[in-house]
Amino acid sequence: MKADLDVLIMAAGLGTRMKSNRAKVLHELDGRPLVNHICETASLLEPRKIYVIVGHQADEVKKAVLAEFDESRVVFVLQQQQLGTGDAVNAAREHLANKEGTLLVLSGDVPLIRVETLQEMLDTHARFRGRGAACTLLSVRLKEPFGYGRVVRDENDDFQSIVEQRDLSDEKAEIDEVNAGFYCFDIRKLFSALAQLGNDNAQGEYYLTDVPQILLSDGEDVAVFQCKNPLEVEGVNDRRQLAEMERRIRDRTLRRLMLEGGVTFIDPSSSYVSSRSVIGRDTVIYPNVSIEGESQIGESCLIRSGTRIENSIIGNGVEVRDNCLITDSTLRDECTIGPMAHLRGHADIGTNAKIGNFVEVKKSKIGRGTKASHLTYLGDATLGEDTNIGAGTITCNFDGKHKHETHIGSGVKIGSDTMLIAPVTVGDGAVTGAGSVVTKDVEPNTLVAGVPARPIKPGTGDR
Ligand code: UD1
Ligand code: CA
Repeated sequence: MKADLDVLIMAAGLGTRMKSNRAKVLHELDGRPLVNHICETASLLEPRKIYVIVGHQADEVKKAVLAEFDESRVVFVLQQQQLGTGDAVNAAREHLANKEGTLLVLSGDVPLIRVETLQEMLDTHARFRGRGAACTLLSVRLKEPFGYGRVVRDENDDFQSIVEQRDLSDEKAEIDEVNAGFYCFDIRKLFSALAQLGNDNAQGEYYLTDVPQILLSDGEDVAVFQCKNPLEVEGVNDRRQLAEMERRIRDRTLRRLMLEGGVTFIDPSSSYVSSRSVIGRDTVIYPNVSIEGESQIGESCLIRSGTRIENSIIGNGVEVRDNCLITDSTLRDECTIGPMAHLRGHADIGTNAKIGNFVEVKKSKIGRGTKASHLTYLGDATLGEDTNIGAGTITCNFDGKHKHETHIGSGVKIGSDTMLIAPVTVGDGAVTGAGSVVTKDVEPNTLVAGVPARPIKPGTGDR
C-alpha cells in the first residue's frame, strides 16, 4: 500500500449525451461496467482508499463496483446533486480534507488509461521543481479537440488555465492540448481551493478544472504531464464513442489471440472475445461467436457459428457445433456439444461425452463417454460413464415447490421419452423402456417399463 496516496473516482453523473435511462458508468465495455475499468486501474496503484463519488443510480453503481472489489478498499460518497466535477470532489471533503498526502482524481468515464501512465504522472507531481506540485494534470494533444477542456499556457509555456469547450473563445478553440480529466492534488491545498470555487460559467457548474488556476493565483505550482497516447485518455460521452472503444478492445484481444496464441478466427470482424478470456493454440473460431466473461478454452477446439460461451471452462479437442449457449459450465476434453444445445448453471460435461441437438443441461454432471443426443432436459442430475440417454428424456426435477435430484449410474440405457420423476436413482446397468415414467428407484441391472415404471426383468442390463 502507498502510505500517502488516495484515489477519487467521479462517477455520479447521468451522462446526458448517452441518451440513456442508465447512469453512464454502468454501461458496459468489454463486458464490464465502465466504472469497474477505472477502479481496477486505480487498485493497481495500491492506494490507501478508493473514494467513488456516486449520485445517479448510486445503489446500482455501488453494487457493480462491489461485485468486483473488496468493501474494505472502496468508500462510496454520495453527491446529492450533480453540480459539476468540482462539487463531486468536494462531496468527499469530510473524508479527506484533514488527510495528508496526494489525491489522484480520475473520471469514471475514461476507462483505458494505463496504470504506468498514472504512475508517471504521480512521479512528475512529486518531483516538480524539486519540491512537488500542488496540482498536476494530465493533458494530451488531439487532432479533434472539440468537446474537451483546453489547456491554456502562458508565454513561458507554463500552465495558465483550463477553459471548457462551452466557455471557449474562437481564438482559443485552436488549442489542441486538452485536459484529459486526471489530476494529482496535494490534498490540503485542493480542499482549500475548492472552498473558493464559483459556478460563474456557461453551464453554471462547479468546475474542478478551475481549481488549478485558483492554486496558481495562490502562488502554488501547477504541473502538466503530457500523455503521448490519445487513445488512453479518450472519454465515453456518447454511444458512438462507446462502440468505437469496444471495437478497439476487441481488435486488440483478437490480434493477441491470433499472433501470440495461435488461434484461428475464420472472420475476426464478427467474433467477440472478452479480453479476460483465454483460448488455446489451434482452436478454430467460426463467424458469429461470442466468448464472454472469464472463459477458458483449450487447444484444438472447434467452436462453430452462432455460439455464445460465457464464464465457462472448456478442455482440449472439444467441438461445439452451431448455435449453442454455454454459461457457467465446464466441458472436458474431446466432448461434443450441439448443435443448438443449452448448458448452464454449472453443467459439467465429461471427457468424450456427447450432448446433442435440443438438449438442455442444468447443474448436472455428465460422466465420461455418456451421450444425450437429442431433445432432452437434464437438470440437477448426475450421470455415470458410458450411459445412453434416449431422445425426449426428461429429468422432472421440479415438483412445483422444490428442486430434486436424479442419479443415473454407469452403463445405463434410458429409453426414448422416459420421464424420471425426481428424486430418483437409476442403478448401474439398468434399462428403462421407451415412454417409461420412473417414479421409484431402479435397482442395478434391471429393466423397467410402463407408467408408472415396474421391473420387468431383473438382470437385463448385466451384459
Ligand atoms: C471533463 C472536464 C474537461 C475534460 C474532460 C475529459 C470538467 C468541468 N471538464 O469534461 O475539461 O476535457 O472531462 O474527459 O471537469 N461527474 C460527477 N458529478 C458531477 C459531474 C460529473 O461525478 O456533478 C462525473 C461524471 O460522472 C464523469 C466525470 O465526472 O464520470 C466527468 O464528467 P463529464 O460531465 O463527463 O465531464 P466532461 O464534459 O467530459
Ligand atoms: Ca466525460
